[in-house]
Parts: sequence; C-alpha cells; structure tokens
Amino acid sequence: MALEDTNNKLLPPKHIAIIMDGNGRWAKKRGLPRTAGHAAGGETFRTIANYCRSIGVKYLTVYAFSTENWKRSEEEISGLMKLLAKYLREGLRDMEKNHVRFRFFGDLSRLSPELRKLCEDAQSRSAQYHEVTVNFCLNYGGRDEIVRAARSFAEDVAAGKAKPEMLTEQLFGTYLDSEGVPDPELVIRPSGEMRISNFLPWQTAYSEFVFMNVLWPDFTPADLDAAIEEYHRRNRRFGGA
Ligand code: IPE
Ligand code: IPE
Ligand code: MG
Repeated sequence: MALEDTNNKLLPPKHIAIIMDGNGRWAKKRGLPRTAGHAAGGETFRTIANYCRSIGVKYLTVYAFSTENWKRSEEEISGLMKLLAKYLREGLRDMEKNHVRFRFFGDLSRLSPELRKLCEDAQSRSAQYHEVTVNFCLNYGGRDEIVRAARSFAEDVAAGKAKPEMLTEQLFGTYLDSEGVPDPELVIRPSGEMRISNFLPWQTAYSEFVFMNVLWPDFTPADLDAAIEEYHRRNRRFGGA
C-alpha cells in the first residue's frame, strides 16, 4: 500500500500541529505545582519532536504560550518562560547535529529581551536547514496573527508597495507568521478539551482534528501513531462531492 513505509506503519502527514495542553491538570493530580507539569510537558515535547523527526514529519508546530496565557499568575508565567529558554538553548545545541530549523509564530515583542534574543538567534542560525522545521507558537494568538498581517499589508498599501485589489488568499498568506509553511494536515489536542483556543485559525481551515483524552505530559509516541492512524481513516473532501 502506497501509504505505508517498510515498517508497515502509515506514512505521517507532512505537517503536524499540536496544542500541548494538560500540564496543569497533570501536576494537580500529583499534588505538584503547575510548573512541575510544564517541566514534564517540556520533556514530552523533546520526546515527541525527536519521534516526529525519526518518522519523517517535515513540519511540527507546537502551541507553547498563547496571547491569552498572560492571564496566569506571575509565578507560572516566569516558570514557563524559564523552561522555554532551557529548551531553546538545548535545541540550539542539537540543531547542527539534527539539522532542525526553528521558527517562531507569535508576537515576540512582549517577551523578555533575553528570551527574544534566544528566539532570534535560533531562527537565524537554523535558517540554512530544510529537512525538519519546528515552529514554536510563543505569545501566539491566531486573531492577533491575522490582525498583524492585515496591518502590515495596509502599511504596504500606504507606502505604495501594494494595491488593495492585489490581495488574494495566497498573498495574504505571505504576511502571516507561517509564511512559506504548508498548512497542517493534522492538528492534535490532548487533555480532553475540544476547542482550538485561538490556534492557527487561518492555517487549519481544512485540517483534520484529533482530540485525545491523554494529558500532554503523559503523551507518548504511541499516542502520536494513534492520531496518525485516525488521520488516515478520515475522508478529506475539501468541499468536493
Ligand atoms: C498547557 O497546559 C501549557 C500552557 C498553556 C502553557 P495547561 O497549563 O493549560 O494545563 P491545564 O489545561 O491547566 O491542565
Ligand atoms: C492553549 O491551551 C494554549 C497552549 C497549549 C499553549 P489553554 O489551556 O491556554 O487553552 P484553554 O484556556 O483551555 O482554552
Ligand atoms: Mg490548558
């Protein structure tokens, strides 16, 4: 069967996007602080990113911090930012070995100067790699992304670099953070919640969604395989008959 590789496993989609949710509940169940859940979730991210690379996923997009997550306590936010810096430093170290390209979706201007610098370094130093791309959504909100894109198109119009009638879906896509990245075929949300929480509304217009009842820190490569199998059972019509 064309969809299977030599190990009889279904070939993965080219682009998988994951809402890494459930860290807080995982910690609560164990009587631990929420930050311990985020640390465990960070380990899961590392495992799943490596697994995706090993099975040939070309793009992995992960929701790490939303524009709404600033509503959380200062303690939780600073813990999360420290963890993000740790995984970025580590990712930067392994980048040359693994040839992973890092990109960031979201408004980085609200991050601390140190974290922002780490993101910018990771993005520019890995821009030469094209085998695998990990897109981190950091201070990301889908509506915010669309508004920023609309503003920058309007600026181009005001500067005489574009005309309103030039705007197409394709051109608008080039103003988005995801410029040049194909839309995700599959979006996975663990933790049992069935909503998208402002994650990639433009890019997921025709994505398949798989909602799973496992908390992100407990998510394993076998869960990813199960989501991919579910994806292959779907009948994607894209509006056709
Ligand atoms: C996801 O886990 C991580 C972030 C949103 C940063 P949560 O912290 O939302 O975990 P729950 O949903 O409270 O269990
Ligand atoms: C979405 O999860 C954001 C991330 C996983 C980074 P949330 O936990 O913030 O979403 P809601 O509040 O349950 O919708
Ligand atoms: Mg949550």
